[in-house]
Amino acid sequence: MKPVISIAALDDGKMMACKVDDVDVLLCRVEGQFYAMANRCSHARQALDGGRLRGHEVICPLHSARFDIRDGRCLAAPATQPIQTFPVKVEGGKVMVSVEGAQQPPRPRFGPLN
Ligand code: FES
Repeated sequence: MKPVISIAALDDGKMMACKVDDVDVLLCRVEGQFYAMANRCSHARQALDGGRLRGHEVICPLHSARFDIRDGRCLAAPATQPIQTFPVKVEGGKVMVSVEGAQQPPRPRFGPLN
C-alpha cells in the first residue's frame, strides 16, 4: 500500500486522478469511504476523472458508460467490460492504495451500435 493523498484532500462526493507506481488511478470518496479503480474506461480508454460521480457510479465523459466504483462492474453501454478496482485503506490520515496486480487496460471493446 502506498500513501496517495491526505484524507482532507478529497471531499465527499468527489473524485480525482492520481498515479500510483505509474498506474493511472481514479480515487473517489463517497459517504466517507474511499474507492480506487483504474482511471481508464474499458470502452475506448478515456480517462474517467473528467466524468461525473453520481452516488457510487462514475459516468465516462466520452460516451457515458457507467461503472460501479465499488467493484468496477459495467452498469451501462457502450462499455461491456468491467474496470479493475484496487484495495484502499485509510491510515494515519492518509489514503493508501495498492496497485499490486494492476493489469494493462483491456483492448477497447465496443458494444452494439444501436
Ligand atoms: S470511452 Fe468511455 S464510454 Fe466510450
